[in-house]
Amino acid sequence: MTGLGAEQLRTHAAEHLLRARDRSVTLTDAVDDDDLVRQHSPLMSPLVWDLAHVGNQEELWLVRDVGRREPVRADIDELYDAFKHARSTRPTLPLLGPAEARGYVREVRDKVLDVLDTASFDGNRLTRHAFAFGMVAQHEQQHDETMLATHQLRVGAPVLQAPEPPAPRAPLAAREVLVPAGEFTMGTSTEPWALDNERPAHPSYTDAFVIDAGCVTYGEYLRFVEAGGYDQARWWSAAGWRHVREAGLTGPKYLTRDGDRWLRTRFGSVEPVREDEPVTHVCFYEAEAYAAWAGKRLPTETEWEKAARFDPATGRSRRYPWGDDDPGTEHANLGQRHLRAAPAGAYPAGASPLGVQQLIGDVWEWTASDFLPYPGFQVFPYAEYSQVFFGPDYKVLRGGSFGTDQVACRGTFRNWDYPIRRQIFAGFRCARDARPDEVA
Ligand SMILES: [Fe+2]
Repeated sequence: MTGLGAEQLRTHAAEHLLRARDRSVTLTDAVDDDDLVRQHSPLMSPLVWDLAHVGNQEELWLVRDVGRREPVRADIDELYDAFKHARSTRPTLPLLGPAEARGYVREVRDKVLDVLDTASFDGNRLTRHAFAFGMVAQHEQQHDETMLATHQLRVGAPVLQAPEPPAPRAPLAAREVLVPAGEFTMGTSTEPWALDNERPAHPSYTDAFVIDAGCVTYGEYLRFVEAGGYDQARWWSAAGWRHVREAGLTGPKYLTRDGDRWLRTRFGSVEPVREDEPVTHVCFYEAEAYAAWAGKRLPTETEWEKAARFDPATGRSRRYPWGDDDPGTEHANLGQRHLRAAPAGAYPAGASPLGVQQLIGDVWEWTASDFLPYPGFQVFPYAEYSQVFFGPDYKVLRGGSFGTDQVACRGTFRNWDYPIRRQIFAGFRCARDARPDEVA
């Protein structure tokens, strides 16, 4: 993208904005108006809030800030400010109704495409490389993933359809991969649409470590459950044990026991659990406990990124595990093309140079790390994007899920959430320190 001329940038930005909107429309047209305004869980907004919020952010950044145009609806800014109203209280607000919200986002988008038509991309940092347009497309796609999670929480007949993800092409060559000790470049200073928390590029060191070539599967995870893992304090951190007792957790969210088998509710369908599918909807504490039971640990964020991006042959860090090309359908399970994670081995073309698979797509992967700024971090374009979240309350997740669009997923992309969250499309892989005989 760095080499694109103004006209190509215009086309590129428009494509991403249009793809995001297609998805928002699919997710909101799939249900009736009652469902759109209903709160399906106190963890989530009504879908109609997400829709108008996406339009409001687009208006703030692109119509008013970049376009210097008159506000479309300055009167609703406060209603759709995510920092002013917790998700649980949003249904009580005087929100735009479904027809009004749809009309609003269309009106904003028309103005934005007009702004884009004449925008110059060589001005300030907000417009260079069409950053603000990319940020808005990412924001909408992030809400599309949140809306997909709301669909998963929704009770009722299935309304979303998608083809099954690909079957494994070949068994994994190895279950674990050794990553050598040394420095690599973490983060980015050059990716045009990277967000502030991914910046700047900086050297980062790890000791030699071993990381799983694939994510932990339902079959593997349920062995921990069936071995009584949820009843044994020794596998859990103090905070994790307190949480698992208080919340009464007995296994991954959306799973129920049916005699000697496990059933899973997925977007309104009930089906037997697939043993080879990456476990999904586990919280950080559950991931951490499983890893302890398996004699391993979660990778740190630095280890995850090194496994994903470091190319030992050249010493440089790639944009993605497979190289510098944007994700294709052969590389990763992204973009809501499939409504579940794919089994290990389904995307060999997406492997990292060291042979770690499916780091991008399928499920967000919990890491052991708190969400912290990189050395040299600078707020851009506003403190509420990342800075207010830095600290020990949030754990970092990496790699994106089947619900994440490629515009909101890079080898450097960082997501964060509370360690108790399970409604997100999150799983994990394990790591461990390398043994002396492995590095000799
Ligand atoms: Fe938002």
